[in-house]
Amino acid sequence: MAQYDVIIIGSGPGGYVCAIRCAQLGLKTACVEGRDTLGGTCLNVGCIPSKALLHASHQLHEAQHNFARMGLIGDAPSVDWSRMLDYKRDAIEANTKGIEFLFKKNKVDWLKGWASIPAAGKVRVGDETHDAKHVVIASGSESAPVPGADVTVDEEVVVSSTGALELSEIPRTMAVIGGGVIGLELGSVYTRLGTDVTVIEYLDGITPGQDAEVAKQFQKLLKKQGLSFVTGAAVSKVERTDDGATVHYAMRKDDAAKTLDVDVVLVATGRRPNTDGLGLDALGVSLTNRGQIAVDDHYKTSVEGVYAIGDVIEGPMLAHKAEDEGMAIAEILAGQAGHVNYGVIPGVIYTHPEVASVGITQEQAEEAGTKIKIGKFSFMGNGRAKANFAADGFVKLIADAETDRILGCHVIGPMAGDLIHEVCVAMEFGAAAEDLARTCHAHPTYSEAMREAALDCGDGAIHA
Ligand code: NAI
Repeated sequence: MAQYDVIIIGSGPGGYVCAIRCAQLGLKTACVEGRDTLGGTCLNVGCIPSKALLHASHQLHEAQHNFARMGLIGDAPSVDWSRMLDYKRDAIEANTKGIEFLFKKNKVDWLKGWASIPAAGKVRVGDETHDAKHVVIASGSESAPVPGADVTVDEEVVVSSTGALELSEIPRTMAVIGGGVIGLELGSVYTRLGTDVTVIEYLDGITPGQDAEVAKQFQKLLKKQGLSFVTGAAVSKVERTDDGATVHYAMRKDDAAKTLDVDVVLVATGRRPNTDGLGLDALGVSLTNRGQIAVDDHYKTSVEGVYAIGDVIEGPMLAHKAEDEGMAIAEILAGQAGHVNYGVIPGVIYTHPEVASVGITQEQAEEAGTKIKIGKFSFMGNGRAKANFAADGFVKLIADAETDRILGCHVIGPMAGDLIHEVCVAMEFGAAAEDLARTCHAHPTYSEAMREAALDCGDGAIHA
């Protein structure tokens, strides 16, 4: 068996990025993956396929609602679901094959199969045991069951996000349990395709942790698009029926018991670390009380030579957070100073409009007693957004009241997921709102709304 410097378990965004970076830094590297294709949840059954369906269904929405307003006359296209699924599969294949190409280019060995760690420095894949100086666990996460409820996912009628990306037909009705990122992205897809979607959320509002003003506006816009919401409701049971399923839930304010009959139920109440089959117990790797692998600041587990990154450790379950950790641990193993700035990790919801945020929210600042100023700008004042029927939403920039240093930004609006990065860069450089306000922004772009919010932290926005 080959002696490796590093073996990485899992080829999702954390694992494959780590593998490529390790190889680039001169380490002899292998990556273990048991799926038929590389890329993990993100590329196979997560980010990429859901974004393909969001893109296709958004084009349909544009044809149905905005084409005629622009003088584009004709029947809106009808949906051929099986061809849409083919398009989605092509998008997955192009991306997973891309990683395979990158592995070959960088001389990363793909060890095919499911890995376990019989001892520090050893990785077992099938009948073979490989030696490695360092082992990095990047085994990701899986859908979590609905807490305290009797719900069995069968991936046909009661589906996780994985099943929701492969439904045999577009359902007439759908209940989404959980008003978080997955529920709203996939709920949007099916609403646009004509499904009557009801989101049932335990809390009183959607997207917990999001800036409250953004979350409120977001829910309002999604309602306008046709999604229905039942908030403050705890799902207790889902029962299969002859033609679908019945969702049982109780309103939290008065315990009133309710039911909803639907064709399909999407369970989207969070994900949990995937550590099954790795042999962590026998190896003596410590877990947190939430079942995550416990690591120190350098991603070291309690066992010498074994490290962990991505969804299996604490922190937001985001592909790009895992990627950053993948690069950081590679640099650490190569003797460099790998580092992730957890204060500047953007979060994006790829609905239409998109929702993006970075740094602290107004609520977090108030809770911490930090004196802040807020610069706000509506996309109604942005020429490009108005021309493109994309003027719903706003930018909210949060800066320190005394120093003007940018502490956070929350955007709901067109291309929010791309716009947020100028604030990420600004925050990495410790910029003040004035720095952003004094930076020339091309006209006409959506980005001008970011600058206007920064101007609003000072003497005022121009187009407000
Ligand atoms: P989530 O944690 O974002 O949302 C789950 C929601 O379910 C919460 O609002 C919670 O209050 C609610 N809930 C829990 N129990 C309930 C019950 N019994 N009845 C009704 N509602 C209940 O989880 P989600 O959407 O499943 O996403 C999982 C992870 O995947 C997240 O960490 C998310 O950040 C990540 N992800 C990120 C994406 C992105 O960055 N665009 C896309 C998809 C997933």
